[in-house]
Amino acid sequence: MRVMLFGALGQLGWELRRTAPEKIDIIPLDYEDVDISDKNAVIRIVAGHSPDYIINAAAYTAVDKAEEKKEDAFAVNETGAANIAFAAMKAGAKLIHISTDFVFDGMKSTPYTTDDATAPLSVYGLSKLMGEKHVLDIANKNALVIRTSWLYSMHGNNFVKSMLRFMGNKTEIGIVADQIGTPTWAKGLAEAIWNFIKKQGIHGIFHWSDSGVASWYDFAVAIKEEAMAIRLLTHDITIKPIGTVDYPVPAKRPCYSVLNKGLTWNSLGYYAPHWRESLRKMLKELKENTDA
Ligand SMILES: NC(=O)c1ccc[n+]([C@@H]2O[C@H](COP(=O)([O-])OP(=O)(O)OC[C@H]3O[C@@H](n4cnc5c(N)ncnc54)[C@H](OP(=O)(O)O)[C@@H]3O)[C@@H](O)[C@H]2O)c1
Repeated sequence: MRVMLFGALGQLGWELRRTAPEKIDIIPLDYEDVDISDKNAVIRIVAGHSPDYIINAAAYTAVDKAEEKKEDAFAVNETGAANIAFAAMKAGAKLIHISTDFVFDGMKSTPYTTDDATAPLSVYGLSKLMGEKHVLDIANKNALVIRTSWLYSMHGNNFVKSMLRFMGNKTEIGIVADQIGTPTWAKGLAEAIWNFIKKQGIHGIFHWSDSGVASWYDFAVAIKEEAMAIRLLTHDITIKPIGTVDYPVPAKRPCYSVLNKGLTWNSLGYYAPHWRESLRKMLKELKENTDA
């Protein structure tokens, strides 16, 4: 089976490449190969390879910068997604498109289902929501949209790696304690994507994150404790819970964005691990990589 992967150099793209089942012939593409906002270029490259599946892990993910660079965010997250869906439809390929918990406004206090109303608070969230809508309109029953949250990986820039850097240099940090969501190891999401492909024929919107809930503060405390346990971090540091108001950033984030994964678990036949178990495994990998 031939699978074309957009966003191959991103953190999810990297995890998808290293977890790809042996029998998958993967065609990895990133910015340097094709700009997904260029419709003709996308159509050309997809037609040239005739993939069975396309995974779109490419995105404009700079959430705060997007508030200023609105056009850039929409060019990738809305137009780029639509271009890929159009090219997939023309080539008869199935499409898996990745979206975000930031399509919700965070006003709920129980996990968001795939039927819940969307109401993004940021440019990034709105651009991703528009992307989802085009993908489902254009590729229809050949499209699977997977929303995920708080992604991290050994590869790329993310909260875990930023925290380890700060913790290495400081004696005290303040982390937002009133935004609740679920940290998600991109490796588990990548494996879920391959399992969706194995099942074939599943379409519509699905949610995937690791299990459990946390605030960014809880997540930071866990990173510190797990990193100290394996001596990835060699000194203790004070982590202070602060409010969103104490850490002003350009983009508004949902204060609650836990995703209900029931539909995904029923379809795949397994649960996601608890986020702390995933974090422990990722840090172990990072440590082994640092030691090597
Ligand atoms: N990161 C999170 O916390 C998070 C949370 C929820 C959902 N998601 C979603 O999960 C998916 C994967 O995210 P990620 O964290 O793996 O993202 P990432 O690490 O930022 O990777 C995105 C990749 O897309 C590429 N890209 C950007 N614009 C492009 C364009 N115009 N044409 C071709 N490629 C382009 C980027 O290249 P450059 O680096 O060269 O720009 C990068 O390699 C995205 O759909 C994202 O919206 C992420």
